[in-house]
This record gives sequence, structure tokens and C-alpha cells, in this order.
Amino acid sequence: MCGISGVVGMKDISNALYEGIRSLEYRGYDSCGVALMNRDKITVKKNVGGVEDFFRKENVLRIKSKVGIAHTRWATHGKVTKNNTHPFQSQDGNFAVVHNGIISNYRDLRTQLSREGFKFDSETDTEVIPHLLDKYFKQTRNVETALIKTLHQLEGTFAMAFISSHNPDQIICAKRESPLMLGIADGCMYLGSDFNAFIDYTKNAIVLDDGEFAIISRDSYIVKNYLTRAEVTKPITKIEWDSESSKKGGYPHYMLKEIYEQPQTVTNSLDIQSELLDEVVDMIYKSDHTYLVGVGTTYYVAQYGQYMISSLAREFLPSLSSDEFVSLSNVTKKSLVLAISQSGETYDTLSALKFAHAQGAQTAAIVNVMGSSISRFVDKVILQGSGPEICVISTKAALSQMIILVQIGLKLALKKKVINKQQMNQAMSTLREFPGIIEAILNERSGFIHRIANAHYKMKHWLYLGRGVYYPIALESALKMKEVAYVHAEGMPGGFLKHGTLAMIDNEINSIVFIPPKEDKKLYEATMHCVEEIRARSGFVLGIHFDERGKNKNLFSEELILPKVSPMIAPLLQLVIAQLFAYFTATSLKRDVDKPRSLAKSVTVG
Ligand code: F6R
Repeated sequence: MCGISGVVGMKDISNALYEGIRSLEYRGYDSCGVALMNRDKITVKKNVGGVEDFFRKENVLRIKSKVGIAHTRWATHGKVTKNNTHPFQSQDGNFAVVHNGIISNYRDLRTQLSREGFKFDSETDTEVIPHLLDKYFKQTRNVETALIKTLHQLEGTFAMAFISSHNPDQIICAKRESPLMLGIADGCMYLGSDFNAFIDYTKNAIVLDDGEFAIISRDSYIVKNYLTRAEVTKPITKIEWDSESSKKGGYPHYMLKEIYEQPQTVTNSLDIQSELLDEVVDMIYKSDHTYLVGVGTTYYVAQYGQYMISSLAREFLPSLSSDEFVSLSNVTKKSLVLAISQSGETYDTLSALKFAHAQGAQTAAIVNVMGSSISRFVDKVILQGSGPEICVISTKAALSQMIILVQIGLKLALKKKVINKQQMNQAMSTLREFPGIIEAILNERSGFIHRIANAHYKMKHWLYLGRGVYYPIALESALKMKEVAYVHAEGMPGGFLKHGTLAMIDNEINSIVFIPPKEDKKLYEATMHCVEEIRARSGFVLGIHFDERGKNKNLFSEELILPKVSPMIAPLLQLVIAQLFAYFTATSLKRDVDKPRSLAKSVTVG
């Protein structure tokens, strides 16, 4: 949700702080603020708007400081105003706090603190923290004790960091559920909601666990448990991502760059250690029920997995939206929950896993961000190795997760003897051809897709239709359109049309139909019926299909013809097309592609 960064060093740190917080902007970009220590006085600057604008307008880089924290906000409690922007200070100005998460008992704390004479300037939950720190410092004259006492008062979730004039050379931070990590370098220490905040400066990180707090100075750090106050020895995590892959590299947007990275990320998914996938397959095999969970895009990835695994391995693994999981499922200790999450921090998905764990179930996950909460929580993690996905819209991570699920389906099929070794090898060689096919399509067809998007970008309503495994592809494609172009797009199974939706067909709604290759005879024919049904009512249909040119003369209003590929990769190839279509529609509409409104990359609140 929100992003936190911090730097404590020997020289001026404002530039490193700027780069740190800018690279976390994907977590929220409603408003931005910094607190910088100057001798033992704290300067706070904050305002609404994005990081770059804020730093320029407020001349932040001109302020010299060796200790500072920064925050980029995704509003949850309180509107997007300057007053609601972090950092928040205590009344005497001696504490400045940034926070990510939700203090669920903040109303009670606010009432209590107001009674005691503390004044509140914002509508946020966070502002109780500096007042509590101030209150307990005045009682104990010790910053660490004030922190512990404050933490004992807080219910809910937090990753928080503060600086204090009482200890001007340190940043102090604490974590419960929301992510926080330290970057360890020579003569300089960093703090971030994730590695991106300091990957340019150091590859050595310490991932804080729930219940821990850390005190960091320029050449030392100490991590303690805030319940026992005992020191905790933390392992150093080596960050494997390189900082170059977090840069735009000549592309106008991260979204486009990440779509173009898919040949590589699919290859990375195919290179995942076979034994690791076998272990997860074994867990599925031994469980009574395996549930696939994810939310937003990853729910559609899970749905895709449900279809693929059912057809490859004849095994039904129900997919559930993580936020619904707790209400709908019947989890026992013989269950397995396989979660899918790019960030590894999504509150809903982590909660589903915690719920499953509490029932004694096994847990596993496919995650992109190493060191993330989900990757550390589950019994078995598959790190997908897609590299940093900076655009808020998920593209390369989702496609790579689908590739992993296909491999799981194949391995399960082999284990259950639904297929033999030869069929398995054949399927794997088909998958190995996929990166080259994506590359060719991106190079050869993006101009054409751009043209179609540009011709129809003013259309306000779209129906995305698919049958079978093409249905989750339609859902995910429609989500891309909604979130990046803010255009109404509804994904639907093709069979739904005749159960009511046909009434909507007129010249104010366009349809996109995901048509399988002809070899998938039944599905192909059923999908073509959808096209006919819409065309019979003079509706517009963009058909994405694999037939020869001219084969379906006059049937489609627009058609996008793809080269013949195996039915196993056909829906995935269509997804790549739909990602580009949403991207170009968004650029025609001049949307803020990498930071679309009302969406954050890491939704760490429920
Ligand atoms: C869509 C999107 C969101 C995320 C969802 C889950 O493009 O980005 O729908 O897919 O919030 O996030 P992760 O995968 O990080 O758990």
C-alpha cells in the first residue's frame, strides 16, 4: 500500500532517499513526505502528488541531512490532503513517523490521547503513533522504551519508522504484518518497504519479521523482539535482482517493457528447478483438497490453473478469490492451499494462508518477490524469478505464473499416469517454443494492435468472451482494460451471452472473442456460436483467432489472426495480445499507464 524508505549515512542522504522512495511509488502515489534530521532538529516536508513533483516543488534535495525517512501514500484513512500526508510529528516536534498498514484501534487511542491534551492535525490512524511516542518518552526518558510501550498499544498492522531528536543519529523501525527490510552497506544503512528502495546501493538485506524492531545507525544495526526485548540474530539475504532490470530501458512505460520481457520471464519459469515443482506436486497429490487462491489478476491466474490442471491431470483444484476464501472453504489438515502472488505481500492472500495454516492445512505459494511475507510464511515456496515488476498492472508476472501452473498440471498428470513420459516431454518442448512465439508476435503484430486500439479507444463498453480455459483469459484481459484504461470491460463465459447479456448488444458495446484453434473442435465451434449471436444483432466483434485469413469472411468486424500454435499455448498468446490492446487503448486515452488511478501494486490492507 504505502511505501517507506529511510537512509542513515555519513554524507548527505537526500538523493538516496529520493531514489529510494521514488522506486516505491508503485505502492502508492497520492502524496509524499520526508523527515530529515539536521543536527538534532527535524525538518518535515510533505504535500499531495507524486514523488518527483514533491521533491522538485519543495526543493527537498537542497536540504542537507545524514538521517532521513520518506513516505509515499496510498490513502486509506483520510482523504488525499497535505494534512493527511506522512510523516506525522509529535507536538514538540521531537518525533517524526511514517507508517504503512492500519492501526485498527486508532479511534479509541485518539479519544484517549485527545482527553490527555494531544492535538490531532489529520484524519489518519497513523497520527496516534508520534503522540504515543511523545507521551511515553516524557514518562521514561528513553526512546526504545517509549517505542515498546507504544507498540503494546497498537492493534492492527504496521511497518513504521521514525526519527527522533533525542537520538538524532538513528532511524528506528518496527514491523507487524506490513513488510519492512534493511539494506546493509559500508558506512550507510537503508530501510525500505522492499528491496527496490536500496537495490542501487546494496544487495545485502535483512528482512524484518513480525514482532521485531530495529535501530539503525550509519555503521551498525540491532534487531530485537519487541515482546521480549531480546536481540535477534538475522540472516543476511542476498538480493538476486539486478538494479538495471528495475529501470525503464528506453521503453515509454514499464508496462510495455514488462510485456516485452515476457519471452525471458516465461523462459525463467520453464527453468525453475524441476525438483521444487515435484515437491509441490507431491503435496497436491497427498492432499485431500488443494485450493488455488489469489486475488485480482492472481485469482484469474488461479482460475486458469484450475482449468489447465483439470484438463491435463483430470484433477479439480478449485480456485477461490483470497478475500472469499475464509468464508467459502472447508479447510482441514488434509488440505493444501496453493497461493499465487506477485508481491508476496497481499493482505487477502496472506490472510487466506494464515487461516489455512490455523486449520492445520499445508500451504504453498508461487511468488515473485523473494523475502516477501508470503514467501516466508508458506511451507513451500516457488520463486518465479520474473524480476522486478514495476508497473502497477501485472503482466509478465501473471503470464509466468500461468506457465508454472501448466508445469504443475503436467507433472501431476505424469504422477497420476494420465500421460506418459513421452507426452510430458512433448508438452515441455511445446512450452519451450512459447518464448520465441511471443517474441515474434510482439515484434510483428504490435503495430496492428496499436492501430485497432487507436480506432476504438473511444468505445466505453467492452465484452470479453471466452469458453473453457479462454474464460479466465477473458477475465484477466478485461481486468487489464479496466485498470489501465479505465474503460468498462466485462469478462464473461461465452455461454452466458444467451442467458441475458445479448440484450446489451448494440452500437455502444464492442465485444472481443477469444477463439481457440480449430483442433479444439468443440470449444472452437461453441465459441464461434457466440460470434454469430452477436453479429446477428449487428454487434461489433473483434475476433482473436488462429484461422487462415479470409476463412471467416465478413464474420468479424475486426480480426486479429495469430499463427497456428498448440492449443496448450494458444490462450496464453491471446493474453499477450490483450495486454497490448489494453496498453495501447490506455495510451490513446492518455492514461497514467504505470500508475493508474486507485490501484497500488502491493495491497497490504484488508
Ligand atoms: C492487476 C493487479 C492486481 C494484483 C492483486 C494481487 O494487474 O496488479 O489485481 O494482481 O492485487 O497482487 P499480488 O499478485 O501481488 O498478490
